[in-house]
Amino acid sequence: MNALAYARFYQNKFLQELQEFLRIPSVSTQPDHQPDVERAAAWLCEQLSAAGFPRADVMPTAGHPVVYAEWMGAGSDAPTVLIYGHYDVQPPDPMDEWKTPPFEPTIVGDDVFARGASDDKGQMYVHVKAVEALAKTNGSLPVNVKCIFEGEEECGSPSLTPFVHEHIDLLDADVALISDTHILGEDTPSIVYGLRGIVYVEVEVTGPDHDLHSGTYGGAVQNPINALCGMIAQLHDEDGRIAIPGFYDQVRDLSAEERQALAKAPFDRQSWLQESGVKTDWGEQGYTIVERASARPTLDVNGMWGGYIQPGAKTVLPSRAFAKISMRLVPDQDPEEIAQLAADYLKQIAPPTVSVKVRELHGGDGAIVRRDSPAMQAAFQAYTEVFGREPVFVREGGSIPVVALFQQALDIETVLMGFGLPDDRLHSPNEKFHLPNFYRGIETSIRFMEVLGE
Ligand code: BES
Ligand code: ZN
Repeated sequence: MNALAYARFYQNKFLQELQEFLRIPSVSTQPDHQPDVERAAAWLCEQLSAAGFPRADVMPTAGHPVVYAEWMGAGSDAPTVLIYGHYDVQPPDPMDEWKTPPFEPTIVGDDVFARGASDDKGQMYVHVKAVEALAKTNGSLPVNVKCIFEGEEECGSPSLTPFVHEHIDLLDADVALISDTHILGEDTPSIVYGLRGIVYVEVEVTGPDHDLHSGTYGGAVQNPINALCGMIAQLHDEDGRIAIPGFYDQVRDLSAEERQALAKAPFDRQSWLQESGVKTDWGEQGYTIVERASARPTLDVNGMWGGYIQPGAKTVLPSRAFAKISMRLVPDQDPEEIAQLAADYLKQIAPPTVSVKVRELHGGDGAIVRRDSPAMQAAFQAYTEVFGREPVFVREGGSIPVVALFQQALDIETVLMGFGLPDDRLHSPNEKFHLPNFYRGIETSIRFMEVLGE
Protein backbone atom coordinates (compact mmCIF):
# COMPACT_ATOMS: atom_id res chain seq x y z
CA MET A 1 0.00 0.00 0.00
CA ASN A 2 1.34 3.47 -0.81
CA ALA A 3 0.78 6.55 1.35
CA LEU A 4 -2.27 7.79 -0.60
CA ALA A 5 -3.91 4.37 -0.41
CA TYR A 6 -3.16 4.22 3.33
CA ALA A 7 -4.75 7.65 3.80
CA ARG A 8 -7.91 6.47 1.99
CA PHE A 9 -8.04 3.16 3.81
CA TYR A 10 -7.84 4.75 7.26
CA GLN A 11 -10.20 7.70 6.76
CA ASN A 12 -12.57 6.41 9.39
CA LYS A 13 -9.86 5.91 12.00
CA PHE A 14 -8.55 9.42 11.30
CA LEU A 15 -12.04 10.84 11.76
CA GLN A 16 -12.47 9.11 15.09
CA GLU A 17 -9.18 10.53 16.31
CA LEU A 18 -10.19 14.00 15.17
CA GLN A 19 -13.41 13.70 17.14
CA GLU A 20 -11.41 12.78 20.25
CA PHE A 21 -9.29 15.89 19.72
CA LEU A 22 -12.40 18.05 19.28
CA ARG A 23 -13.88 16.82 22.55
CA ILE A 24 -11.13 18.61 24.51
CA PRO A 25 -12.30 22.19 25.21
CA SER A 26 -8.89 23.83 24.81
CA VAL A 27 -10.08 27.45 25.06
CA SER A 28 -6.81 29.31 25.50
CA THR A 29 -8.08 32.70 26.56
CA GLN A 30 -10.09 31.46 29.57
CA PRO A 31 -8.07 30.52 32.69
CA ASP A 32 -10.73 27.95 33.70
CA HIS A 33 -9.80 25.88 30.68
CA GLN A 34 -6.09 25.70 31.45
CA PRO A 35 -6.22 21.98 32.37
CA ASP A 36 -8.04 21.29 29.10
CA VAL A 37 -5.39 23.11 27.12
CA GLU A 38 -2.73 20.96 28.85
CA ARG A 39 -4.74 17.84 28.10
CA ALA A 40 -4.99 18.76 24.43
CA ALA A 41 -1.20 19.24 24.29
CA ALA A 42 -0.56 15.86 25.93
CA TRP A 43 -3.06 14.13 23.63
CA LEU A 44 -1.47 15.68 20.56
CA CYS A 45 2.01 14.71 21.69
CA GLU A 46 0.94 11.07 22.04
CA GLN A 47 -0.62 11.12 18.59
CA LEU A 48 2.60 12.48 17.10
CA SER A 49 4.59 9.62 18.63
CA ALA A 50 2.03 7.11 17.38
CA ALA A 51 2.16 8.63 13.90
CA GLY A 52 5.87 7.85 13.70
CA PHE A 53 7.72 10.89 15.02
CA PRO A 54 10.72 9.58 17.02
CA ARG A 55 10.80 12.86 18.94
CA ALA A 56 7.63 14.43 20.30
CA ASP A 57 7.69 16.73 23.33
CA VAL A 58 5.38 19.00 25.25
CA MET A 59 7.61 22.03 25.81
CA PRO A 60 6.63 24.50 28.52
CA THR A 61 6.41 28.26 27.92
CA ALA A 62 5.36 31.11 30.18
CA GLY A 63 1.82 30.40 28.95
CA HIS A 64 0.35 27.30 27.32
CA PRO A 65 2.84 24.70 26.10
CA VAL A 66 4.23 24.21 22.61
CA VAL A 67 4.05 20.69 21.22
CA TYR A 68 7.18 19.98 19.19
CA ALA A 69 7.97 16.90 17.10
CA GLU A 70 10.55 16.01 14.49
CA TRP A 71 11.47 13.34 11.96
CA MET A 72 14.89 14.09 10.52
CA GLY A 73 15.65 10.84 8.69
CA ALA A 74 15.67 12.25 5.16
CA GLY A 75 19.25 13.47 5.56
CA SER A 76 20.86 16.86 5.40
CA ASP A 77 20.46 17.16 1.62
CA ALA A 78 16.68 16.89 1.78
CA PRO A 79 14.60 19.98 2.56
CA THR A 80 13.11 20.45 6.02
CA VAL A 81 9.46 21.42 6.39
CA LEU A 82 8.33 23.17 9.57
CA ILE A 83 4.64 22.46 10.12
CA TYR A 84 2.85 24.98 12.33
CA GLY A 85 -0.67 24.72 13.70
CA HIS A 86 -2.62 25.58 16.84
CA TYR A 87 -4.42 23.20 19.15
CA ASP A 88 -6.22 25.95 21.08
CA VAL A 89 -9.68 27.23 20.14
CA GLN A 90 -11.82 30.33 20.53
CA PRO A 91 -14.48 30.48 23.28
CA PRO A 92 -17.68 28.76 22.11
CA ASP A 93 -20.14 31.48 23.19
CA PRO A 94 -22.93 32.40 22.55
CA MET A 95 -23.76 28.88 23.76
CA ASP A 96 -27.50 28.90 23.06
CA GLU A 97 -26.91 29.42 19.35
CA TRP A 98 -25.19 26.06 18.89
CA LYS A 99 -27.43 23.42 17.32
CA THR A 100 -25.21 20.67 18.79
CA PRO A 101 -22.88 21.10 21.79
CA PRO A 102 -19.56 22.73 20.78
CA PHE A 103 -17.39 20.05 22.38
CA GLU A 104 -19.44 17.05 21.33
CA PRO A 105 -18.37 16.73 17.70
CA THR A 106 -21.41 15.83 15.62
CA ILE A 107 -21.39 14.60 12.06
CA VAL A 108 -24.17 15.91 9.86
CA GLY A 109 -23.90 14.85 6.23
CA ASP A 110 -20.32 15.53 5.15
CA ASP A 111 -19.49 17.96 7.94
CA VAL A 112 -18.25 17.62 11.50
CA PHE A 113 -19.60 20.35 13.79
CA ALA A 114 -17.52 21.42 16.81
CA ARG A 115 -15.53 24.40 18.08
CA GLY A 116 -12.08 24.11 16.50
CA ALA A 117 -13.23 21.69 13.77
CA SER A 118 -11.85 23.95 11.04
CA ASP A 119 -9.88 26.41 13.17
CA ASP A 120 -7.53 24.72 13.60
CA LYS A 121 -7.68 21.19 14.96
CA GLY A 122 -9.07 19.57 11.82
CA GLN A 123 -6.67 21.45 9.59
CA MET A 124 -3.50 20.90 11.61
CA TYR A 125 -4.34 17.21 12.14
CA VAL A 126 -4.26 16.78 8.35
CA HIS A 127 -0.46 16.92 8.45
CA VAL A 128 -0.10 14.55 11.39
CA LYS A 129 -2.03 11.98 9.36
CA ALA A 130 -0.09 12.71 6.19
CA VAL A 131 3.15 11.99 8.04
CA GLU A 132 1.63 8.81 9.47
CA ALA A 133 0.60 7.62 6.02
CA LEU A 134 4.10 8.21 4.63
CA ALA A 135 5.91 6.76 7.64
CA LYS A 136 3.75 3.64 7.91
CA THR A 137 3.91 2.75 4.23
CA ASN A 138 7.40 3.83 3.11
CA GLY A 139 9.10 3.56 6.47
CA SER A 140 10.45 7.04 5.77
CA LEU A 141 9.45 10.53 4.65
CA PRO A 142 10.55 12.29 1.46
CA VAL A 143 11.56 15.40 3.48
CA ASN A 144 12.59 16.16 7.04
CA VAL A 145 9.65 17.29 9.12
CA LYS A 146 9.47 19.42 12.24
CA CYS A 147 6.16 20.28 13.88
CA ILE A 148 5.42 23.23 16.13
CA PHE A 149 1.89 23.31 17.48
CA GLU A 150 1.01 26.16 19.82
CA GLY A 151 -1.77 26.60 22.37
CA GLU A 152 -2.10 30.39 22.36
CA GLU A 153 -2.83 31.41 18.78
CA GLU A 154 -6.38 32.47 19.53
CA CYS A 155 -5.23 34.86 22.23
CA GLY A 156 -2.42 36.53 20.31
CA SER A 157 0.47 34.03 20.74
CA PRO A 158 2.09 35.88 23.70
CA SER A 159 4.59 33.08 24.39
CA LEU A 160 5.43 32.16 20.82
CA THR A 161 7.72 35.06 19.95
CA PRO A 162 10.09 34.35 22.87
CA PHE A 163 9.84 30.59 22.19
CA VAL A 164 10.86 31.00 18.56
CA HIS A 165 13.72 33.34 19.44
CA GLU A 166 14.99 30.91 22.09
CA HIS A 167 14.84 27.93 19.71
CA ILE A 168 16.19 29.30 16.44
CA ASP A 169 18.39 26.23 15.81
CA LEU A 170 15.73 23.74 16.76
CA LEU A 171 13.29 25.36 14.33
CA ASP A 172 15.76 25.73 11.48
CA ALA A 173 13.93 24.72 8.27
CA ASP A 174 13.59 25.54 4.58
CA VAL A 175 9.90 26.27 4.50
CA ALA A 176 6.98 26.57 6.91
CA LEU A 177 3.69 24.86 6.13
CA ILE A 178 0.47 26.10 7.75
CA SER A 179 -3.12 24.96 7.29
CA ASP A 180 -5.20 27.56 9.09
CA THR A 181 -6.95 29.32 6.20
CA HIS A 182 -9.68 28.42 3.77
CA ILE A 183 -10.01 27.67 0.06
CA LEU A 184 -12.58 29.46 -2.09
CA GLY A 185 -14.83 26.44 -2.54
CA GLU A 186 -14.91 22.69 -2.31
CA ASP A 187 -13.75 22.38 -5.89
CA THR A 188 -12.02 25.75 -6.11
CA PRO A 189 -8.69 25.41 -4.36
CA SER A 190 -6.78 28.57 -3.50
CA ILE A 191 -3.51 29.49 -1.86
CA VAL A 192 -3.38 32.46 0.50
CA TYR A 193 -0.33 34.66 -0.09
CA GLY A 194 -1.24 37.62 2.14
CA LEU A 195 -2.63 37.92 5.66
CA ARG A 196 -3.50 41.01 7.66
CA GLY A 197 -1.80 42.00 10.88
CA ILE A 198 -3.75 42.95 13.95
CA VAL A 199 -3.65 45.15 17.01
CA TYR A 200 -6.15 44.77 19.83
CA VAL A 201 -6.93 47.39 22.48
CA GLU A 202 -9.31 47.68 25.39
CA VAL A 203 -10.77 51.08 26.21
CA GLU A 204 -12.04 52.06 29.64
CA VAL A 205 -14.05 55.26 30.05
CA THR A 206 -14.79 56.52 33.57
CA GLY A 207 -17.34 59.17 34.44
CA PRO A 208 -18.49 59.48 38.07
CA ASP A 209 -16.34 57.57 40.57
CA HIS A 210 -19.30 55.37 41.53
CA ASP A 211 -22.65 54.36 39.99
CA LEU A 212 -25.34 57.03 40.41
CA HIS A 213 -29.14 57.13 40.44
CA SER A 214 -30.02 58.07 36.85
CA GLY A 215 -33.02 60.09 38.02
CA THR A 216 -31.14 62.15 40.55
CA TYR A 217 -28.05 62.78 38.39
CA GLY A 218 -29.09 61.99 34.80
CA GLY A 219 -28.89 65.11 32.64
CA ALA A 220 -26.27 66.77 34.81
CA VAL A 221 -23.58 64.10 34.87
CA GLN A 222 -22.38 62.67 31.56
CA ASN A 223 -22.98 58.98 31.17
CA PRO A 224 -19.69 57.23 30.26
CA ILE A 225 -21.49 54.70 28.04
CA ASN A 226 -23.04 57.54 26.05
CA ALA A 227 -19.64 59.21 25.88
CA LEU A 228 -17.94 56.01 24.68
CA CYS A 229 -20.60 55.50 22.01
CA GLY A 230 -19.97 59.05 20.79
CA MET A 231 -16.24 58.33 20.61
CA ILE A 232 -16.74 55.07 18.76
CA ALA A 233 -18.99 56.84 16.28
CA GLN A 234 -16.03 59.08 15.42
CA LEU A 235 -13.70 56.20 14.54
CA HIS A 236 -14.98 56.00 10.94
CA ASP A 237 -15.88 58.79 8.54
CA GLU A 238 -18.85 58.77 6.18
CA ASP A 239 -16.86 56.99 3.49
CA GLY A 240 -16.10 54.08 5.78
CA ARG A 241 -12.50 55.21 6.26
CA ILE A 242 -10.86 55.08 9.65
CA ALA A 243 -10.68 58.58 11.10
CA ILE A 244 -7.64 58.10 13.36
CA PRO A 245 -5.05 60.67 12.20
CA GLY A 246 -2.02 58.98 10.66
CA PHE A 247 -3.74 55.58 10.47
CA TYR A 248 -3.16 55.21 6.71
CA ASP A 249 0.29 56.84 6.58
CA GLN A 250 2.28 53.60 6.26
CA VAL A 251 -0.29 51.56 4.33
CA ARG A 252 1.25 49.86 1.31
CA ASP A 253 -1.21 50.59 -1.49
CA LEU A 254 -2.45 47.88 -3.80
CA SER A 255 -0.80 48.01 -7.20
CA ALA A 256 -3.00 48.10 -10.30
CA GLU A 257 -1.61 44.70 -11.17
CA GLU A 258 -2.55 43.16 -7.84
CA ARG A 259 -6.02 44.66 -7.99
CA GLN A 260 -6.50 43.07 -11.40
CA ALA A 261 -5.29 39.71 -10.12
CA LEU A 262 -7.56 39.86 -7.06
CA ALA A 263 -10.52 40.76 -9.27
CA LYS A 264 -9.94 37.59 -11.28
CA ALA A 265 -10.42 35.26 -8.31
CA PRO A 266 -13.93 33.83 -8.39
CA PHE A 267 -16.27 35.80 -6.12
CA ASP A 268 -20.03 35.55 -6.00
CA ARG A 269 -21.68 38.47 -4.23
CA GLN A 270 -24.95 36.61 -3.70
CA SER A 271 -23.35 33.66 -1.92
CA TRP A 272 -21.17 36.04 0.05
CA LEU A 273 -24.29 37.85 1.29
CA GLN A 274 -25.88 34.55 2.20
CA GLU A 275 -22.77 33.20 3.93
CA SER A 276 -22.46 36.33 6.06
CA GLY A 277 -26.20 36.77 6.62
CA VAL A 278 -26.30 40.50 5.83
CA LYS A 279 -28.64 42.51 3.62
CA THR A 280 -25.88 44.41 1.91
CA ASP A 281 -22.18 45.07 2.18
CA TRP A 282 -20.50 48.01 3.89
CA GLY A 283 -17.03 49.52 3.89
CA GLU A 284 -14.39 51.82 2.57
CA GLN A 285 -15.46 53.61 -0.60
CA GLY A 286 -13.43 52.90 -3.70
CA TYR A 287 -12.58 49.29 -2.92
CA THR A 288 -14.27 45.99 -3.74
CA ILE A 289 -15.59 43.64 -1.06
CA VAL A 290 -12.63 41.32 -1.62
CA GLU A 291 -10.14 44.18 -1.27
CA ARG A 292 -11.84 45.61 1.83
CA ALA A 293 -11.90 42.26 3.56
CA SER A 294 -8.37 41.19 2.78
CA ALA A 295 -6.04 43.91 1.60
CA ARG A 296 -7.28 47.08 3.34
CA PRO A 297 -6.95 47.92 7.03
CA THR A 298 -10.07 47.94 9.20
CA LEU A 299 -11.33 48.71 12.69
CA ASP A 300 -14.01 46.78 14.58
CA VAL A 301 -15.51 46.96 18.04
CA ASN A 302 -15.43 43.35 19.24
CA GLY A 303 -17.38 43.92 22.43
CA MET A 304 -18.80 46.69 24.62
CA TRP A 305 -20.10 46.65 28.11
CA GLY A 306 -20.97 48.75 31.12
CA GLY A 307 -23.94 49.54 33.34
CA TYR A 308 -26.73 47.10 33.96
CA ILE A 309 -27.01 44.09 31.64
CA GLN A 310 -28.89 41.54 33.80
CA PRO A 311 -32.60 40.73 33.22
CA GLY A 312 -35.11 43.48 33.94
CA ALA A 313 -34.55 47.21 34.29
CA LYS A 314 -32.26 49.15 36.60
CA THR A 315 -32.10 52.93 36.49
CA VAL A 316 -28.43 53.56 36.87
CA LEU A 317 -25.96 56.06 35.55
CA PRO A 318 -22.90 53.83 35.49
CA SER A 319 -19.44 54.83 36.55
CA ARG A 320 -17.59 53.03 33.76
CA ALA A 321 -17.90 51.84 30.16
CA PHE A 322 -15.64 49.50 28.20
CA ALA A 323 -14.97 48.50 24.62
CA LYS A 324 -12.67 45.97 23.00
CA ILE A 325 -11.45 47.22 19.64
CA SER A 326 -9.34 45.40 17.09
CA MET A 327 -7.73 46.82 13.99
CA ARG A 328 -6.69 44.64 11.06
CA LEU A 329 -3.50 45.93 9.51
CA VAL A 330 -1.83 45.61 6.14
CA PRO A 331 1.88 45.36 5.32
CA ASP A 332 4.06 48.23 6.59
CA GLN A 333 1.62 49.25 9.33
CA ASP A 334 3.24 48.70 12.72
CA PRO A 335 0.90 47.33 15.43
CA GLU A 336 2.56 49.30 18.26
CA GLU A 337 2.45 52.54 16.32
CA ILE A 338 -1.19 52.06 15.36
CA ALA A 339 -2.14 51.24 18.96
CA GLN A 340 -0.50 54.50 20.03
CA LEU A 341 -2.29 56.52 17.32
CA ALA A 342 -5.60 54.97 18.35
CA ALA A 343 -5.01 55.70 22.03
CA ASP A 344 -4.02 59.32 21.31
CA TYR A 345 -7.09 59.87 19.14
CA LEU A 346 -9.50 58.31 21.64
CA LYS A 347 -8.13 60.56 24.38
CA GLN A 348 -8.30 63.59 22.12
CA ILE A 349 -11.97 63.08 21.17
CA ALA A 350 -13.13 62.11 24.66
CA PRO A 351 -15.37 64.75 26.22
CA PRO A 352 -13.81 66.58 29.20
CA THR A 353 -16.40 64.93 31.48
CA VAL A 354 -14.74 61.52 31.41
CA SER A 355 -11.28 59.98 31.67
CA VAL A 356 -9.98 57.38 29.25
CA LYS A 357 -7.54 54.49 29.60
CA VAL A 358 -6.38 52.42 26.62
CA ARG A 359 -4.58 49.11 27.11
CA GLU A 360 -3.05 47.08 24.30
CA LEU A 361 -3.97 43.38 24.55
CA HIS A 362 -1.96 42.00 21.65
CA GLY A 363 -0.55 42.77 18.25
CA GLY A 364 1.00 40.98 15.31
CA ASP A 365 2.34 41.86 11.88
CA GLY A 366 0.65 41.01 8.61
CA ALA A 367 2.59 39.18 5.92
CA ILE A 368 2.89 38.70 2.19
CA VAL A 369 4.67 35.56 1.03
CA ARG A 370 6.44 34.80 -2.25
CA ARG A 371 4.31 33.12 -4.89
CA ASP A 372 7.24 31.78 -6.90
CA SER A 373 9.21 29.70 -4.39
CA PRO A 374 9.85 25.98 -5.04
CA ALA A 375 7.63 25.16 -2.05
CA MET A 376 4.78 27.23 -3.56
CA GLN A 377 5.21 25.31 -6.81
CA ALA A 378 5.04 22.02 -4.92
CA ALA A 379 1.85 23.18 -3.17
CA PHE A 380 0.40 24.30 -6.49
CA GLN A 381 1.06 20.87 -7.99
CA ALA A 382 -0.27 18.99 -4.96
CA TYR A 383 -3.58 20.94 -4.96
CA THR A 384 -3.94 20.52 -8.71
CA GLU A 385 -3.51 16.75 -8.52
CA VAL A 386 -5.79 16.19 -5.54
CA PHE A 387 -8.56 18.73 -6.28
CA GLY A 388 -8.36 18.30 -10.05
CA ARG A 389 -8.11 22.04 -10.54
CA GLU A 390 -5.32 24.62 -10.33
CA PRO A 391 -5.44 26.79 -7.19
CA VAL A 392 -5.81 30.56 -7.45
CA PHE A 393 -3.79 32.97 -5.32
CA VAL A 394 -5.75 35.11 -2.85
CA ARG A 395 -5.21 37.39 0.14
CA GLU A 396 -7.03 36.82 3.41
CA GLY A 397 -8.32 39.21 6.02
CA GLY A 398 -7.60 37.05 9.06
CA SER A 399 -4.31 37.09 10.92
CA ILE A 400 -1.70 34.44 11.61
CA PRO A 401 1.10 36.49 13.19
CA VAL A 402 3.50 33.56 13.17
CA VAL A 403 3.96 33.97 9.39
CA ALA A 404 5.74 37.31 9.89
CA LEU A 405 7.54 35.92 12.93
CA PHE A 406 8.97 33.04 10.86
CA GLN A 407 10.02 35.51 8.14
CA GLN A 408 11.77 37.75 10.64
CA ALA A 409 13.28 35.24 13.08
CA LEU A 410 13.93 32.20 10.87
CA ASP A 411 14.19 33.91 7.48
CA ILE A 412 11.85 31.37 5.89
CA GLU A 413 8.74 31.66 3.76
CA THR A 414 5.45 30.00 4.59
CA VAL A 415 3.06 28.05 2.40
CA LEU A 416 -0.50 28.65 3.59
CA MET A 417 -2.14 25.41 2.54
CA GLY A 418 -5.70 25.90 3.74
CA PHE A 419 -8.49 23.34 3.69
CA GLY A 420 -11.33 25.23 5.38
CA LEU A 421 -14.35 26.56 3.49
CA PRO A 422 -15.71 30.14 3.59
CA ASP A 423 -18.86 28.97 5.41
CA ASP A 424 -17.04 27.08 8.19
CA ARG A 425 -18.19 29.71 10.75
CA LEU A 426 -14.82 30.21 12.42
CA HIS A 427 -15.15 31.89 15.83
CA SER A 428 -18.96 31.55 15.51
CA PRO A 429 -21.53 29.10 16.82
CA ASN A 430 -21.88 25.93 14.69
CA GLU A 431 -18.30 25.89 13.44
CA LYS A 432 -17.73 22.93 11.12
CA PHE A 433 -15.13 21.24 8.97
CA HIS A 434 -16.04 19.68 5.65
CA LEU A 435 -14.83 16.07 5.84
CA PRO A 436 -14.02 15.66 2.14
CA ASN A 437 -11.59 18.55 2.67
CA PHE A 438 -10.08 16.75 5.66
CA TYR A 439 -9.35 13.71 3.51
CA ARG A 440 -8.26 15.69 0.47
CA GLY A 441 -6.10 17.77 2.79
CA ILE A 442 -4.23 14.68 3.96
CA GLU A 443 -3.63 13.67 0.35
CA THR A 444 -2.53 17.18 -0.61
CA SER A 445 -0.06 17.23 2.28
CA ILE A 446 1.33 13.82 1.25
CA ARG A 447 1.76 14.97 -2.35
CA PHE A 448 3.31 18.26 -1.20
CA MET A 449 5.99 16.45 0.75
CA GLU A 450 6.61 13.98 -2.07
CA VAL A 451 6.92 16.69 -4.73
CA LEU A 452 9.14 18.84 -2.51
CA GLY A 453 11.39 15.85 -1.82
CA GLU A 454 11.94 15.10 -5.50
N1 BES B 1 -7.45 30.65 11.39
C1 BES B 1 -7.48 32.00 11.80
C2 BES B 1 -6.91 32.98 10.79
C3 BES B 1 -7.74 33.11 9.55
C4 BES B 1 -9.09 33.36 9.62
C5 BES B 1 -7.14 33.05 8.35
C6 BES B 1 -9.82 33.49 8.49
C7 BES B 1 -7.87 33.17 7.21
C8 BES B 1 -9.22 33.39 7.28
C9 BES B 1 -6.71 32.17 13.07
O1 BES B 1 -6.81 31.10 13.95
C10 BES B 1 -7.25 33.37 13.79
O2 BES B 1 -8.42 33.48 13.97
N2 BES B 1 -6.37 34.25 14.18
C11 BES B 1 -6.71 35.35 14.95
C12 BES B 1 -5.41 35.97 15.35
C13 BES B 1 -5.45 36.94 16.47
C14 BES B 1 -6.12 36.41 17.71
C15 BES B 1 -4.04 37.37 16.77
C16 BES B 1 -7.56 36.33 14.17
O3 BES B 1 -7.35 36.50 12.96
O4 BES B 1 -8.46 36.92 14.75
ZN1 ZN C 1 -6.73 29.35 13.41
